[in-house]
Amino acid sequence: MIVCGKSLAVEGGQVQRTVDGAMLIAASSAASVLESGGESVFDPNHWAAQGRLSATAQGRGSAWFVKTEQEEWVLRHFRRGGMTARLLTDRYFWLGEERVRAFAECRLSARLHAQGLPVPAPVAARYSRHGLLYRCDLITRRIAGATPLSALLAAAPLSAAHWNGIGRALEGLHRAGLDHADLNAHNILLDAAGTVSVIDLDRGRLRAPGRWARGNLARLQRSLAKVCAGLPAERFDAACWRQLLDGYTAG
Ligand SMILES: Nc1ncnc2c1ncn2[C@@H]1O[C@H](COP(=O)(O)OP(=O)(O)O)[C@@H](O)[C@H]1O
Ligand SMILES: [Mg+2]
Repeated sequence: MIVCGKSLAVEGGQVQRTVDGAMLIAASSAASVLESGGESVFDPNHWAAQGRLSATAQGRGSAWFVKTEQEEWVLRHFRRGGMTARLLTDRYFWLGEERVRAFAECRLSARLHAQGLPVPAPVAARYSRHGLLYRCDLITRRIAGATPLSALLAAAPLSAAHWNGIGRALEGLHRAGLDHADLNAHNILLDAAGTVSVIDLDRGRLRAPGRWARGNLARLQRSLAKVCAGLPAERFDAACWRQLLDGYTAG
């Protein structure tokens, strides 16, 4: 374990300095992170060596499932998408610790999860800084038995109750002020009972009510149309969207 200096209590957790950065550890996970190896919990090789790592089926290929002694976690290394990905891959410009992407997502998830909203509970975040650039990672609790909406739709149609439940979950998050920066069919998960969770809060923020909520829904609608293109029409048609909106407005 590489920890330099003492930990500092912050809202929802504690910050511990490392050799080249810091970790933000959620209060409820401090013991399990420290017992599991401190900063090495962010290293996939640490878990692979113990046979405790498996790849996630979805995403950009830098998320892994981890089985600790007590819990299941999702470990995600932040990577860029789009044009800058080729040049900077997984490095971001340093704008101060407050602005570290994984720290911001960790704090936002902690706040929403504490309100009982359907987002993963954060475990810990970490960054390492190299001059003007930094890399970062985030660990969240794995949502048991959950499958991305995109994968469910690829296999079978969804019931009206499921579409309704998605709408209700989104309304709750919007009412709490969450402007999700990437609301799409891969970032909504359902478990076997149909319980909805929303993941991937990177670049999300809390805002006063406004038109952004409609923007979130429009983005999701485009994503659903895209993932269902080429599938039987009833996987995502006007009726499905209406059922989702019914749940949203009933929420
Ligand atoms: N808390 C979680 N519980 C269960 N599965 C998760 C969780 N977080 C992520 N996943 C899985 O990992 C994939 C990638 O995670 P995500 O946070 O969306 O990262 P990215 O889109 O940047 O790759 C998701 O599509 C989902 O299948
Ligand atoms: Mg995602």
